[in-house]
Amino acid sequence: MNIRLTTSNKVLMLKTVIHLAALLPLINLYYLAFYDLLGADPVQRVIHFTGIGAFNLLLLTLTVTPLAKRFKQGFLLQVRRLLGLYAFSYAFMHVFNFLAFDLQFAWSLFFNEIVKRPYITFGMIAFVLLATLAITSLNSLRRKMGKSWQKLHNLSYLIIILVAVHFYWSVKSELLSPLFYFLLVGILLSFRYTKIKKLMRSTFNRKTSKI
Ligand code: HEM
Repeated sequence: MNIRLTTSNKVLMLKTVIHLAALLPLINLYYLAFYDLLGADPVQRVIHFTGIGAFNLLLLTLTVTPLAKRFKQGFLLQVRRLLGLYAFSYAFMHVFNFLAFDLQFAWSLFFNEIVKRPYITFGMIAFVLLATLAITSLNSLRRKMGKSWQKLHNLSYLIIILVAVHFYWSVKSELLSPLFYFLLVGILLSFRYTKIKKLMRSTFNRKTSKI
């Protein structure tokens, strides 16, 4: 029997897999946390899990375009937004866990940490930018923004670098995984080498012409 899937069926299947793969681990994490089954330092475990989860999802989001181009599978582009929104959701839970369980909602301490610890400063800049991309991913806003939408969403390249630095600085001893993640970020950005070079050149030219 030869079953041919239509594009919309492929997208639907892929979206279902993404929903399950993103939601089930998160539900399991909070279930284990609720029943105190996360070991000696549950707060650290939850911050770690959501932080790494957000980073993995960001990397996956940036993998979609080169993959779709390489294998000529344009339908893949239709799941990019969903992956990006899950990356933001994990990052939101990461920051919320830090604020709620580590700092017990001590807002002054929270702002102090953002100013005093460079790795938190980098994380916060990445988070604010990611939140901006999540909000503007709405179709109605995308249409209203026209060409500036793509310019804004090019910030995802900056976000992934900020997150890699945030991860590297947050780690106290084991450096192998942050270095491995740097390598992955480097590979994904290398696919956009020409585009990034153009973006940097136009930003730099605009700045010097203003002086
Ligand atoms: C896009 C946003 C962000 C991403 C993807 C991200 C990702 C990560 C990753 C991968 C780690 C390492 C996890 C580990 O090995 O334990 C981490 C650690 C951490 N992040 Fe973030 N982060 C983000 C933003 C933030 C922000 C805004 C804050 C706080 C305001 C924050 C607070 C922390 C803390 C407290 C740690 C644990 C450091 C430790 O081990 O003591 N992160 N983050």
